[in-house]
Amino acid sequence: MLITWDFRRAVTERRSIEAEQRSGFTVRPVAGYLSPRDFLSALAYRVFNCTQYVRHSTDPLYTPEPDTCHELLGHVPLLADPKFAQFSQEIGLASLGASDEDVQKLATCYFFTIEFGLCKQDGKLRAYGAGLLSSIGELRHALSGAACVRMFDPKTTCRQECLITTFQDVYFVSESFEEAKEKMREFAKSIKRPFSVYYNPYTQSIDLLKDTRGIEDVVQDLRSDLNTVCDALGKMNTYMGI
Ligand SMILES: [Fe+2]
Repeated sequence: MLITWDFRRAVTERRSIEAEQRSGFTVRPVAGYLSPRDFLSALAYRVFNCTQYVRHSTDPLYTPEPDTCHELLGHVPLLADPKFAQFSQEIGLASLGASDEDVQKLATCYFFTIEFGLCKQDGKLRAYGAGLLSSIGELRHALSGAACVRMFDPKTTCRQECLITTFQDVYFVSESFEEAKEKMREFAKSIKRPFSVYYNPYTQSIDLLKDTRGIEDVVQDLRSDLNTVCDALGKMNTYMGI
């Protein structure tokens, strides 16, 4: 089947709009591979860089590089999930100002979660990694029971070798995106940098928290949010007896 440029662009735009409406993530077209630092830093701003080309028609089940099928079938639907979107952003935030060595560790965590991650659903093993969702063969292998599966732990996962041209030697499973996010947050604390970062959703920018002034501004935002939560709980108590 010949997929025209206009069709690809229309599908990309439609999926991008859906993801943005649900989680605030936007999809940005890029010509090809970016460095790990460039790719991860975009995630901090809730931006996902998306390739533009399609795998060759003579080998529709395999592509050595990420193509539009991989991006749109594997990545974009999950970026429309708010919890997954937050998890993706956490990896990006941790990369800002990190050393090359730490960025590489984060890129490896990204690889074994967002690309090849497994999770649990109703006690059963499920795949959420885009590399698995866009590869019938590896998806079957990863869930076959024959594959090596370990619990996701950024401290050990970041040392695992990433295999590009073969199935992975090992896959990492998380109980939930929330659990994976908390683990990434703990791991991020071990990264040496003289500041913390805060994503400001109002300005869609990153605030560096390195003095009391910056921290006070964040506390003001949190106080406002907590007031809203307290008000909602009070009304649930008054009107619904909860
Ligand atoms: Fe990917």
